[in-house]
Amino acid sequence: MDTIWSRYVQGCMTLYSSRRLRFHDRFRHRFAELFALEDHPLRILEVGCGPGALAGALHRWYPQAEIIGLDRDREFVRFAREHEPGVLFREGDAMALPFPEGQFDVTISNTVQEHVEPSGFFGEQLRVLRPGGVCLVLSSRRGLHAGAPCLEWDEGEKAFWGKVMELDDSMEKYGICRYPMSEAELPAAMEKYGFRNVQTGYVLADLTPDDPRVSPALAREMILSGKVNDLEALDSAALTLGERIRPEERERIRERIEEKYARRLEQYARGEKQWDTSVSVIMVLRGVKGEAQT
Ligand SMILES: C[S@@+](CC[C@H](N)C(=O)[O-])C[C@H]1O[C@@H](n2cnc3c(N)ncnc32)[C@H](O)[C@@H]1O
Repeated sequence: MDTIWSRYVQGCMTLYSSRRLRFHDRFRHRFAELFALEDHPLRILEVGCGPGALAGALHRWYPQAEIIGLDRDREFVRFAREHEPGVLFREGDAMALPFPEGQFDVTISNTVQEHVEPSGFFGEQLRVLRPGGVCLVLSSRRGLHAGAPCLEWDEGEKAFWGKVMELDDSMEKYGICRYPMSEAELPAAMEKYGFRNVQTGYVLADLTPDDPRVSPALAREMILSGKVNDLEALDSAALTLGERIRPEERERIRERIEEKYARRLEQYARGEKQWDTSVSVIMVLRGVKGEAQT
């Protein structure tokens, strides 16, 4: 296996903190309604589990279930084992799942389909599901985002991230997002690859730190998730671009990130509302392996 994703694409903390918020217990009922899982001890496989936040949420939401998370990135698996002790994690390839057929009641994935060749992605999950088993595919769609004024890029950041976007070829190099599908193509693909009773639905996961129903601890987590994302993106850019980023340039961007998020936290503590908000739109597809299939 490898560490490509965690080094060059998204770091452990970026994925873990954003998914902890996306799969927070406040959204549990929205997801559970669309998952529509039976209430008996389930064996669930999460494909492309990353650092494990969804697997951790499934463990809280379905405490009777046995949950196995699988990813090909070694660093994510190491991180997930450390942070989600209730789940079994292992390295493996979604294109050749290391399990015999018919082993699972449920397979699930979040933002993985677009990166894996579809006949392997759907075919392998169909193979390891028992007849009547459920495949859940979660796919992030275009969301809504309104930033706090103090978090906007200044001219230096605009120039820096513009340069990174221009020079960074890791998406192409590592085949990231090679198989994108629209909201109409996704259910059609599930049917094409053999799933029956395909259903679709959407969960809106809204993160607004200034909403009074959000606790101060959670509001802080929401604000700091952006900081973690920016800092890890800076580290990835430095790894990818090497000497094309000067150390003093990198340091200036790091200081700016630290300073602006400190300001956002101070504003929050003083009760100065910014109403910055981020709404993820998550498409949930549910398909069943037919009884007659082998
Ligand atoms: C966008 S990340 C999402 C991670 C996780 N599902 C989450 O939401 O935090 C895509 C994940 O798919 C994994 N991945 C991509 N191709 C894979 C493959 N062929 N087999 C196993 N994992 C794969 C990557 O390592 C990465 O962890």
